Amino acid sequence: MKNLKHSNAVRDGRKMEQQEFKSLLRQKTSEIDALIEQYLPEENGYQKTVLEAMNYSLLAGGKRLRPMLMHETFRMLGGSGRAIEPFMAAIEMIHTYSLVHDDLPAMDNDEYRRGRETTWKVYGDAMGILAGDGLLNYAFETALAAFDFAEETGTEEMKRIAGALKLLANKAGVYGMIGGQTADIEAEERRTPLSTKQLLFIHEHKTAALIQASMMVGAVLAGAGKDELAAIEKCAYNIGIAFQIQDDILDVTGDSAELGKQVGSDAQNNKQTYVTINGLEKSGADVERLSKEALRILADFEGEHDFLEELVINLIHRRR
Ligand code: IPE
Ligand code: IPE
Ligand code: MG
Ligand code: MG
Ligand code: MG
Repeated sequence: MKNLKHSNAVRDGRKMEQQEFKSLLRQKTSEIDALIEQYLPEENGYQKTVLEAMNYSLLAGGKRLRPMLMHETFRMLGGSGRAIEPFMAAIEMIHTYSLVHDDLPAMDNDEYRRGRETTWKVYGDAMGILAGDGLLNYAFETALAAFDFAEETGTEEMKRIAGALKLLANKAGVYGMIGGQTADIEAEERRTPLSTKQLLFIHEHKTAALIQASMMVGAVLAGAGKDELAAIEKCAYNIGIAFQIQDDILDVTGDSAELGKQVGSDAQNNKQTYVTINGLEKSGADVERLSKEALRILADFEGEHDFLEELVINLIHRRR
């Protein structure tokens, strides 16, 4: 009953029917898949194996949430031009690399991802490490191709691209995702419970940082000003934390076939998660609270964002 009440509350004022949303979601996901395919490295040369391993994980599918959020933010802020395209491919490469490494035996030791065996399981640990490294570096080579589109448009566009690259590097790095993964791994050894502050540090950095990178790159490339960018950062923080809490919930209540990855991985690794600390009920309520906060920030933007809004709402009760 409680859940029903929550979802009805969130339903008020929605601008898009579920059917239309689902069909747009399918269409946009396949457009992103096609875009990523354009930027895949060719599998040849003496380094063929690592290239295959990179493409194996990228082509395994996935929700493509980060490029989608990037593009929708760009659209909402009135962005135009093609410089966004290589950045959309790049963020998915960085996210995919984070998963390839996250699954390694030395980290979460998981054997299934995106409905298939993990990269290390198929190609071995060494190739898993190298494929991750390869994806990270190739992401920046790819994003740099945005400058090819900027040559026609000039200096202002070049500045935006440089700003977007800086953001991407920061949010993916030790002050972003890598920092969060570090704290996540170290927390496995702890015998005492994590404080809320420590847990939020982990979730903000390991997960929200790449969601922030996605939306902020979209905003910067669209020419967002300082205040708009700060609002987008806050909005993406809320979406990102909610997303990781839901991921923690699904590790307990999810269906492995639907998720495309093993459930129970966190318990197996003695991970302290939002669910172990706060329980399922509060975790679910917080996903909803944080998502509503994100929606409230989005509501202040005048640009069209009906799909983006519906996407955030749909993430609240996502099953994968
Ligand atoms: C999984 O991300 C890792 C987390 C940050 C929770 P996604 O749930 O977006 O994974 P894919 O891209 O759909 O496989
Ligand atoms: C992942 O967190 C965060 C990353 C940076 C990859 P998890 O370890 O919970 O992600 P899953 O559950 O394996 O997808
Ligand atoms: Mg992990
Ligand atoms: Mg994991
Ligand atoms: Mg998880």
